[in-house]
Parts: sequence; C-alpha cells; structure tokens
Amino acid sequence: MTDLFLSMKNISKRYTGVKALDRVDFEIARGEIHCLVGENGSGKSTLIKIISGVVKPDSGARIEVEGDVILHHHSIDSILKGIEVIYQDLSLFPNLTVAENISLSQTIASRSKIINWRRVREISEKAMARIGVHIPLDEQIDNLSIADQQLVAICRALTSEVKLLILDEPTSALTRKEVESLFTVIKDLQAKGIATLFISHKLDEVLQIAEKVTILRDGKKIETLPSRGLTDEKLTFLMTGEKMEYSRYTIDNRHEEPLLEARQLSIQGNFRDISFKLYPGDILGITGLLGSGRTELAEALFGMNPFESGDLFIEGRKISIKSVQEAIRLGIGYVPENRLVQGLVMNQSVAKNIIITTITRLLNKFKLIDPEKRQRSITRWIKNLSIRIPAFDAPVHTLSGGNQQRVVLAKWIATSPKVLILDGPTVGIDVAAKSSIHDIIRDLAGRGMGIIIISDEVPEVFHNCNRIMVMHKGRIIAEFDSTVTTEEEIQNCINMAS
Ligand SMILES: Nc1ncnc2c1ncn2[C@@H]1O[C@H](COP(=O)(O)OP(=O)(O)OP(=O)(O)O)[C@@H](O)[C@H]1O
Ligand SMILES: [Mg+2]
Repeated sequence: MTDLFLSMKNISKRYTGVKALDRVDFEIARGEIHCLVGENGSGKSTLIKIISGVVKPDSGARIEVEGDVILHHHSIDSILKGIEVIYQDLSLFPNLTVAENISLSQTIASRSKIINWRRVREISEKAMARIGVHIPLDEQIDNLSIADQQLVAICRALTSEVKLLILDEPTSALTRKEVESLFTVIKDLQAKGIATLFISHKLDEVLQIAEKVTILRDGKKIETLPSRGLTDEKLTFLMTGEKMEYSRYTIDNRHEEPLLEARQLSIQGNFRDISFKLYPGDILGITGLLGSGRTELAEALFGMNPFESGDLFIEGRKISIKSVQEAIRLGIGYVPENRLVQGLVMNQSVAKNIIITTITRLLNKFKLIDPEKRQRSITRWIKNLSIRIPAFDAPVHTLSGGNQQRVVLAKWIATSPKVLILDGPTVGIDVAAKSSIHDIIRDLAGRGMGIIIISDEVPEVFHNCNRIMVMHKGRIIAEFDSTVTTEEEIQNCINMAS
C-alpha cells in the first residue's frame, strides 16, 4: 500500500464563459499538509468542490481515493471516504446553536428520531476540546463573530472519522493567536495520519505550515513544490507571472481643514476617548488585535452603534449620527469586515449589486434608470477592480470568493463618499488584486477622499497609510507617522500590548 490518499488526473471544469480548471493533476498523501494557492478565480475552490463531489468534473477525469477509482462521485461518497470540507462561506445553520451545528452530522447519522441533548453536548464539547476552544454551546450561530463561526465549522468536521480535512481559506478571519492554535490542531491531526488541504492567500502562513504547495493560475496547475526553500516572492511570481513591488503612501495635508474629527468618542465596554483628525487625502490605518474595539469604532462612525459621549465633526460642523442613513447622507461609506455575508445579494447579478447604492444618481429626468448610464457605470467598476465574472448578468454566487469581495468594494466606492471606512479591505484577496485595490484606495485619497483602513495586517497599513493608530482594549495606545516609523516598530507596539 502506498501512502497516497488521493490522486486526481486530468481534471477539467468548464462553465459557460470560463474554464475554471484545465487538465489539472493533483495528489495528496496520508497525513500531508498541502496548500493550494493562486489568484482569485484561478480555480482553487472549484478543485476542492470536485474533490468533495459537489461539482462534477468534465469527462476524462480520473479520481482515486485510497487506490479505489471513484466513478460517480457524490458528496456522500467523500464523507464516507473520510473527506470533510469547510467552505469559504462555512455553511453553518445560522439559527441553530453552536452545539446543534457541531453535532448535526452525527445526529443525522444516528438515525434516531429523538434527539439526545446530552449526547449533542458531549459531541460538541469533545470536538472543541480537540482544538482547545470554548464557545458557549447554546449560543446561536448568527450571534458569533466570524472567527468563532469558523471554529464551529472546524469542530463540526472533526466529529467524523476524517482522513482528509479540506479548508477553504480557514484563516482569513482569524487572529494570529487563533491561527496558531488552528495550526497546532492541523499538526496534531497530522500526527494521527490525517491530511489537511487548505487554501490561503496569506503566503507567510502557507510557508509556515504547509509541506507542499500547489500553484494554480487561470485554471492550470503551474507546479507542486515542497514549501521548504520557497519564499513569498517566489510564490507570488509563480501565481501571477509578475514581480510585485511595494511602495509607501505619504502626503502633506495638515494645513487643510479636517474632513472628520473625533473628540473623545466613547461607548462603554467598546472604546474610550477616541480622538483623531482625518484630513482630505489621508489614509489612516487602524490596527491592533481583533477585539481591540476597531470594528466597534467603525460601526459607531457609521451610525450602526451610536457613540455615547464625545463629539464628531464633519468639515468643521458638529454632527450626531444616529442611523446608517444619516451617515450615508453625511458622506460616510463603510465596507464591513464580514462582507461575504453582509454585503451582497447572492442570487442577483454583479450589476444589480453594484448599482444598488448609487441608484438615485442613475435616474434620468423621468425617474427611470438610464440604461446607458447604468451600463457605463457598471462596466467601469468591473474594469477598475478587475472583477472576473463568467457573464455580464451572472449572479454573484457564481463568482469566486475574492471576486465577490471586489463587488462589495465597488458598490461602496461607487457612492463616492467623503469619508470611506474599510474594515479588512483585502482579506481573502490575492496579492495582485490586493495591490490593485491599494492603488484604487490611493487614487481615491488622491482625489480628496479621507480613508480609514482597519486591518490586522501591519504590512498593509504600513505601506498604504500615511498615519497609523494602534488600538488596544478600546483605546488608542499609539500613533505613527508612516514617514518616520518602521514596520517592526508598529508590530512591536502591538506585541507589547498583547
Ligand atoms: N457556478 C459557477 N458558474 C459559473 N462560473 C463559475 C461557477 N463557479 C465558479 N465559476 C468560475 O470559475 C472560476 C474559478 O472559480 P473558483 O471559485 O474556483 O476560484 P478561486 O481560485 O477559489 O478564487 P478565490 O480566491 O477568489 O476564492 C471563476 O472564474 C468563477 O467565476
Ligand atoms: Mg475560492
């Protein structure tokens, strides 16, 4: 018996308008930690959907699991063969509890008509103990942070006899600490002979954990390489076929009137005494660990969660924002972190999703949508953000994850706000697209918009922001001017606080 677990040959998948996969060969050994990388839309998710039997490959494919040829591949076969997948959208049941979600497949498998609640809790507790997390069992899924939801999805996968665990971007919403504990879990599973295949855009993590890396580009396999000896730059080059260059963003704008000024904003339990000024052309970075109050601050500025004390000024005028509508009217735009679920109408076209926020500007004098204007506006955004769509009117759910995120960005940028708040603007977006999104952000700032970027990624704020604030436990603990600081200095500040 070889130690090969899965072998796939000549895998192609054509959708109308795109070839998602083109004659890909792929294999994974027992206990191997393997990572799949590639730009948005390169076919990563499609490949794992084929492994899991959700998507059928085009004819000519050959798939073997533990030496058995799989003929009519269905998802149930994969589960029986010990393959468990956690998708980008996690596929949890939002209105069920944590324990119900984790134990669901076991509960169904037991075929019992009566639910044994003690057993449900036991299964869930055991799964959580395996990865050393504690999430309240009776909490409803939609009350959890995306990070906790992700952990629940992992726990659910661990309840069965898994031999190959597949994770589609498992770390995109996790903090560094959570990522570390996930990696410990993956290593621990490996020791038990369980293989892990995962997709990630965070190349440093890929190199840290994976033994092998497979690179896809435009649906074709470029190479499978051992991760030892690989670097970020080399991987980026293999993924894009281009070399990336990093530059810095600086601006001299303090002589102008601030667009936005916060004076001692506070919400008890969320953040305290937040003061800052945002000038036209500013790209202000707010970093710090998850849970530092950054997202709460953004939500307060956007009227989702009005602040309790302190003052807010827009262009020198004191204002109070009590609702999202007011915030939008005052010229504030906000792209939330959890945008895969918050930002889009999945079964509607890209076009509809983009114009939904700008609709009033596209109306002609008869108050009807001007079709030509609509077409022009949409084409421009699709082009500007290089959104890859299978067809002009394709529903958003047929887009790859990263391309869905660009649609949400386009939607908000299209409203041309004065102040744009971006929470994790490039989470889940590939390196090439990341840099094109950064270019767009700089371009918007260059035209006088004030931009706030909230990000975990220190390199992202360091390169793209002219000022950087570090938040910790609801307070601003440090502020840096990008021209006189270094990436290490900012990182150290975060490390010391935590
Ligand atoms: N159901 C579908 N109908 C039509 N086209 C599809 C469908 N699913 C995926 N595609 C297309 O197949 C290509 C590959 O998509 P896939 O989701 O595999 O990309 P990915 O590598 O996972 O990207 P990302 O990093 O953005 O998640 C994309 O061009 C996508 O638009
Ligand atoms: Mg994907």
